[in-house]
Order: sequence, then structure tokens, then C-alpha cells
Amino acid sequence: MNPAGALPGMDSLPMSYLHTFGPAADPATRLGWGLGIVSVAVVLIISALLLGGVFRRRSAADAKQSDPLHVGREGKGMRWIYIGVSLSTIVLMVLAIWTMETIAAVSKPPGPPAFTIRVTGYQWWWRLRYEDKEPARTFTAANEIHIPVGMPVKLEIESADVIHSFWAPHLGGKTDAIPGQTNVSWIQADWPGVYRGQCAEYCGAQHAHMALLVIAEPPADFKAWWGNQLRSVEEGGGSPSTIAGRTVFSEHCAACHTVRGIGVGGIVGPDLTHLMSRQTIASGTLHNDPASLAEWIRHAQDLKPGTKMPSVQLSDDELKSLTSFLQTLD
Ligand code: CUA
Repeated sequence: MNPAGALPGMDSLPMSYLHTFGPAADPATRLGWGLGIVSVAVVLIISALLLGGVFRRRSAADAKQSDPLHVGREGKGMRWIYIGVSLSTIVLMVLAIWTMETIAAVSKPPGPPAFTIRVTGYQWWWRLRYEDKEPARTFTAANEIHIPVGMPVKLEIESADVIHSFWAPHLGGKTDAIPGQTNVSWIQADWPGVYRGQCAEYCGAQHAHMALLVIAEPPADFKAWWGNQLRSVEEGGGSPSTIAGRTVFSEHCAACHTVRGIGVGGIVGPDLTHLMSRQTIASGTLHNDPASLAEWIRHAQDLKPGTKMPSVQLSDDELKSLTSFLQTLD
């Protein structure tokens, strides 16, 4: 099952919050629908009563007896005020209690979270640090969050530069990423699938290109994925093209990007150790395929103007071998 489409932009409603797929979001969705339905019903009832009042004609006897300028408690008019105020009060009380219950339900998961991901917003991508009690099982990834189905995952959300906002609408509400502060949130997906998320606070020119994916998979698959993420790249070996590509990477890319295991590692940009395990590049801007990768390396500033990733000047041979090296990072 794949409720949110396989890749960003491929589903007709990739960012819909009207249908949600986990307990961090479902109570708020039910409340949203409830409030919407009650509001529409109130408008319809009030409109009908108002029209009834406007078009109601007094009986001839009534009209003759009363003084047209006199305002008084004639007929049974006051009764409607009492009924109206009582009904409104009851409806508002019920909605207030429902709202408080919803806030309590989504504020924290029912049980202890399976693990914590430290999510850091950057202009314009997301660094993800998967934390484990054993430091050796902790690792860093980017832009695509994997979680096991049916388990709550704690998110510690922060920012490295300006204010961003973490939002995966199918799985939960927005949480701001604020410099110098850690905001705690959580997500849980009850169905496996790929859920699109997006930075939800304007953070500069490429705010729209600050997407993310949440990939919910069965616990066994998730465990295998985590195990693979811990693996470092083996130094040496590979085809001549791959070896040449590794050199190009060390010379042109390693100041900003880490590939664990080859002895280089900048932290300005995303960790690329398992680049090929991701579906997208440039924070959900492009599909992750060899052609897009080559295009991104050469024309990053045309595809995402203002990003810290430069348009790298490489010869055709260098680009080819670099792309073939990147293909090995699975
Ligand atoms: Cu980050 Cu908008």
C-alpha cells in the first residue's frame, strides 16, 4: 500500500492533510472534519432561520393591534434567544473539550518512542541524525526519513541557520525549526508508504525546494535499512572509472560532503555515504538517477539558484567517472 505516491509530485494530493495515516495526525484530522461539518451546519441553520424571519408575515390581527414603533416582548420571541444561546453554549463546550482532548492526544505518543531522529533544517535541506544508545549505531543521513510502520518515532527539530518548519502532513502537524532551540515532536505511520513532507516556513529563495520524504516500511525492512546505513564505503577497489571518480570526489566534493570510509568528509552539505539509497536528490527537487545527478552536479545553480552547492566545472570524463563512483554509494 502506498497512500502518498511513490515520488514527490506524482500523487495528485501529495500534501493533503484531509486524510492522515498515523496517531500523531489522526485526532487533529477528525477534529478538523468535525469543526468543518459543525461550522457548515451552523451557517445553514442560521441562514434558514434568518430567511424565515425575513419572509414571515404577521397575521392581520397582530399587525392591527400593535403599535408599529413599540419594541417589546411580544409573542414568544424571547424563547428563541434562550434556545439559541443554550444550544450554542452546548456546542461550543463540546468542541472546546474535543479540542483539548485532541491537543493532549497529539502532544506525545501513547508509548515510549522506538528511537530519536535529530532533524536539522538548513537552507535548503534536512540533516537527519538517527540516534541510538550505542554510539556505533548512530549515523547521519539527509532528506529522506525512514521509520518502521506502527511505531512512534521522536523528532528533535532544530535549525542551523534561519527558521524552518518541519511538516509531513499525512503524519502530523507542523513543528518549527528554530535556531538555538530544540523543538520536540513525533510521527508514526500505521501504513507502509512514502509520505511527502515540506518545509512550511518561508526560509529564503529555495524554500519551495526544501522537501522531504518519510518512508514507512515493515520493521524487518527498516532494521535492514538501518544496518546498511551503518556500513562505511570500502576504500580501494572498484572499476577504473569508479576509482577515478573517487579521486574527482576527493578533489571537488569532499570539502562539503562526507562519504564515510574514504577518509574525506565535509559537513556543509548532506552526507552522501548512502546516496543511492535515496529516491531524490537536492531535497526532493530531482529524481535520483544518473542523468539527474550529472545535471545537478554541473548545473546546481540553474536548478536551485542560491543553493550552497556550486555548479561544478568538470570535464565530461571527470563527470562520468564521478557519477559512476556516486552510483556505488548504495
Ligand atoms: Cu526551510 Cu522553508
